Amino acid sequence: MALQNDEQSTDMLHSQTHIWNHLFNFINSMSLKCAIQLQIPDIINSHGAPMSLSELVEALSINKERTPFVYRLMRILVHSGFFSISTIGDHEMEEKEGYLLAPPSRFLLKEDPLSIRPFFLAMLDPILVDPWQHMSEWFKNDDKNPFYTAHGKMFWDFAGQDPNLNQFFNEGMDSDARLVASVVLKHRDVFKSLNSIVDVGGGTGMVVKAIAESFSDVSCICFDLPHVVNGLVGSKNFSYVGGDMFDAIPKADAVLLKWILHDWSDEECIKILLKCKDAIPSKENGGKVIIIDMVLKKGEGDKEFVETQLFFDMLMMTLMTGRERSEKDWAKLFFDAQFSDYKMTPILGLRSLIEVYPWLTYIAFYTW
Ligand SMILES: C[S@@+](CC[C@H](N)C(=O)[O-])C[C@H]1O[C@@H](n2cnc3c(N)ncnc32)[C@H](O)[C@@H]1O
Repeated sequence: MALQNDEQSTDMLHSQTHIWNHLFNFINSMSLKCAIQLQIPDIINSHGAPMSLSELVEALSINKERTPFVYRLMRILVHSGFFSISTIGDHEMEEKEGYLLAPPSRFLLKEDPLSIRPFFLAMLDPILVDPWQHMSEWFKNDDKNPFYTAHGKMFWDFAGQDPNLNQFFNEGMDSDARLVASVVLKHRDVFKSLNSIVDVGGGTGMVVKAIAESFSDVSCICFDLPHVVNGLVGSKNFSYVGGDMFDAIPKADAVLLKWILHDWSDEECIKILLKCKDAIPSKENGGKVIIIDMVLKKGEGDKEFVETQLFFDMLMMTLMTGRERSEKDWAKLFFDAQFSDYKMTPILGLRSLIEVYPWLTYIAFYTW
């Protein structure tokens, strides 16, 4: 097909670039994974000053003949905003420029208390990446999700049978939970006047443990599947309970659901929310469900914000049976599960804190 004019040629070449850029998007994540596995962020951070390429190569546990390849790896990571280049102060040095951490890389350091390195490595483990190769196959079959098509079992069953997946997934979740707890606990009003709280699907208990330490009068439970909590030991006002949230949830004033409902379909969420309602008292007696999850913003906000929310939505489609939800979707779920009202507070970047209240007793009595 001959192109008629220069404008059409320019459009075609832009289209080609756009396609190539999307085709090779995975190179950004894989390059960063390689840098994390080689501990490049940690090494540059410990150096404490701009680190030249030769200093970096010297410090890395690699084949030293790889120097030019390290340069190329670092070049793309500077481009994608994980490292910066600065002038080296030492005038004796032959190399005049060195690498520094850019702000996001602080959260990829091994020892940083708020590091999301374990979450990053968990999400790029082949067990979680393989299902993407099966997405088109899944569109044509009856499996519940591409994860099932790839592995022949659902994610939580696989995690229950494979201690390696269970461990790296829980470590990934722990790292996110530590970061979230550091923000949520600044909003003390959310927890004031509670006597008890149960973190359902709480993993190894990072968030609720932090709540227990911060509110010594609140009795806290981390509730999760037995393979997650078996053998874990609580403390004075904090305990672990193993079980299935689709059967029953331990009673408490509040149920916390952090990164739970987005894993599940609407029908499954309603079942979970009904179990939550059974576990908490009425609104006037302080009952509520506290949800930490995304609220989709329909194209509002900057490109990275919107795209990252859409990535999570696709992740839920591929690994789980869930999805990310707009405020309208959330409201429908809450009312379908017979809750009376809710309050959304966007305090967690891409995620929000949502407080959901059951009916007052006398209204519930007349309504149901
Ligand atoms: C995405 S993780 C979130 C963990 C934790 N809330 C966090 O955000 O760090 C989902 C959790 O739900 C738990 N889970 C899955 N199915 C469950 C069930 N039927 N009953 C209780 N917990 C369940 C998983 O074991 C996992 O710990």
